[in-house]
Amino acid sequence: MIEPVKHISKNYGIDRSWTLEVYERTRGYQAARKALSMEPAKIIDEMKAANIRGRGGAGFPMGIKWSFMRPHPTKPAYLVVNADEGEPGTHKDRTIMELDPHRLLEGCMIGMYAYIYVRDELHLSKKRLWDAIHELRAKGYLGKRPFGLKDYPLEIHVQTGAGAYICGEETALLNSLEGRRGEPRLKPPFPAQVGAFGCPTTVNNVESIASAGLALMMGGAEFSKLSRLHEVGDGGCRLYGVNGHVEKGLVVELPCGPSINELIAMAGGVSKGRKVKGVIPGGSSCPVLTPDEVFHMPDEKSPLHKYHGMKVFDVPMGVDTMRIAGTMLGTCCITVIAEGTCMVRAAHNLARFYKHESCGQCTPCREGTGWIERIFEKIETGHGDLGELNEVSDIASNIIGNTICAFGDGAALPMLGFVRKFRKEFEQHVKDKRCPFNGSIL
Ligand SMILES: Cc1cc2nc3c(=O)[nH]c(=O)nc-3n(C[C@H](O)[C@H](O)[C@H](O)COP(=O)(O)O)c2cc1C
Ligand code: SF4
Repeated sequence: MIEPVKHISKNYGIDRSWTLEVYERTRGYQAARKALSMEPAKIIDEMKAANIRGRGGAGFPMGIKWSFMRPHPTKPAYLVVNADEGEPGTHKDRTIMELDPHRLLEGCMIGMYAYIYVRDELHLSKKRLWDAIHELRAKGYLGKRPFGLKDYPLEIHVQTGAGAYICGEETALLNSLEGRRGEPRLKPPFPAQVGAFGCPTTVNNVESIASAGLALMMGGAEFSKLSRLHEVGDGGCRLYGVNGHVEKGLVVELPCGPSINELIAMAGGVSKGRKVKGVIPGGSSCPVLTPDEVFHMPDEKSPLHKYHGMKVFDVPMGVDTMRIAGTMLGTCCITVIAEGTCMVRAAHNLARFYKHESCGQCTPCREGTGWIERIFEKIETGHGDLGELNEVSDIASNIIGNTICAFGDGAALPMLGFVRKFRKEFEQHVKDKRCPFNGSIL
């Protein structure tokens, strides 16, 4: 059984853990001081060795992303921290901002001049971050000469977003940050070339940045080895969340690679002693998995071959293992769905969300998400037919890969997953002209 660890979450539970006094007592800001004495390239080497796969969902290696930044002769460079945390079923970043904001701020200082983009309804997160920034300014840790150590102007700002899911997408976030409509931009150019206010920019998730100080102090390679999946380049430890039909929802820090079954057990099991019907691995954009699915990696040369033939629920959850399992690791906050739940209703609930949140720039996404939502609603209420059910695959396939941003795929793939894996349930709704579960999502 995998055991919880205390690195990122080291200060959780300590009285007034969000204050500078507590953070410094627990060796806080040593990494930022160390970073100021290092060459930027050396810091990037440590991040690469740490194998931190982006904690915001896409799993892109953080060190490699940092290496894309090139100094501009006239423009400043920005780090933008993505604290939008709008993915349904995701609830980990706010724990860092509320319980240990200085860990994030120290990561920002290792990164560079930073904006933290927080969604408006995270009131406590915003307050704790601003309070922490004021503490730093009062002590001279930020500003023209951080810690009084070096002329290297550093500032950190908190910017509030109005709470649209699409503003978590990095280029929509940059538009919103600049006061424009929160719509994704066409890439290229990528943010490392043209980002916030036309300047070179790195966009990283809260947890990714909060891991930077740990990796620097521990040494990148040592940090990476904390993981069960270190040898496949998925390093360190990270926050896992469990929500949905479990006895006790939680956020827990673990070495990368717990299995779904281990996470469910840590959350006290499926609620009311029921069996699990499905698990959404990392936010609603990740296709659902079922307990009888088997992991396929027949290639004996692959380092993941050792999991071949195992139940997917027993395989360590990592960026690559979840991709091979036909889904995504996403944000590592799993949603557990118990037996007795109507999967048509669950799918409809999510389809409604995606229809509402599409920014509308691309026709396949704007029209397709609404179309799927209407079909699911008809089926759920006993007015659908099989012809329309079959259309869902076509509509979803026409969204995938045909849009400006990843929202389209993130909306279509889970819908395909629900229909493929629970097709009998959809058909039964059509045949009986009613919901066999009385629409239960409890
Ligand atoms: C629709 C959509 C919503 C997203 N929401 C978030 C979010 O709330 N937080 C986040 O960190 N990344 C989010 N992302 C991913 C970001 O675009 C980006 O990949 C991420 O912030 C990069 O940070 P990382 O490499 O540290 O993970 C979202 C992506 C899409 C397509
Ligand atoms: S895929 Fe959807 S959310 Fe993304 S830009 Fe196109 S319409 Fe907007």
